[in-house]
Amino acid sequence: MRIILLGPPGAGKGTQARILMEKYGVVQIAAGDLFRENIKAGTPLGKQVEAIIKEGRLVSDDITIRMIADRLDKPDCKNGFILDGFPRNVAQAEALEKMLHEKGIALDGVVQMAVNDEQLIDRISGRFTCSGCGEGYHDKFKKPAHADSCDKCGAKGKFTRRADDNAATVRTRLETYHSQTAPILPFYSARKMLKTVNGMADLADVTSQIEAVLAG
Ligand code: AP5
Repeated sequence: MRIILLGPPGAGKGTQARILMEKYGVVQIAAGDLFRENIKAGTPLGKQVEAIIKEGRLVSDDITIRMIADRLDKPDCKNGFILDGFPRNVAQAEALEKMLHEKGIALDGVVQMAVNDEQLIDRISGRFTCSGCGEGYHDKFKKPAHADSCDKCGAKGKFTRRADDNAATVRTRLETYHSQTAPILPFYSARKMLKTVNGMADLADVTSQIEAVLAG
């Protein structure tokens, strides 16, 4: 499986990528996660991008494309990958096309997760993650079985919330999606690669829809 998951903030790209990753034994390449890991580790890249991410703006194409190209070169990508949050504008889509062509890799599809903007704020503001294993949860839609421990790795008191998950930044991120990322849709549609699923359905249903559009 070699796919791109496309959709605005909170569409469920990360959630579905993690489900598919476990089911199909492929890796998730999440641009936002890679940036956040660098910020947490205090690397030069992390220092360069921290303020931009906090404001909900896009990191420069140069930095982002280099980071993804390096990640795609890692041996664990050989069995397949799910790109989540990349590409995010037409320049990145063109760079990815060139990169994959040079590596002799073909994509199986580009899946757009169609969602209702109004409900995204709700989804994002209720989101939290286990810093032990990265498992994602939600105050309403996906609660852990015990309030302060992770269902997956058992870590206690390790839940964290993202610095860019506040209402003002989410609005900027949504505007950025519509002005800069949505123009990617015709790019992939022209190449007959674009498939659309209803991202407002429940979690398992969205996974089944993704599997169905990729098989069909
Ligand atoms: P990034 O980390 O990619 O954030 P994002 O695109 O804003 O996406 P999110 O992670 O917020 O949402 P998601 O779609 O993964 O939703 P999730 O599955 O968590 O990027 C962050 C920043 O990094 C950017 O703003 C930018 O600054 C920078 N950046 C990243 N990539 C870049 C690039 N290519 N170029 C330049 N800059 C870049 O779901 C959300 C919540 O909803 C969860 O709690 C989940 O449990 C719940 N949920 C999910 N699906 C469902 C469902 N079907 N029903 C009910 N609840 C659901």
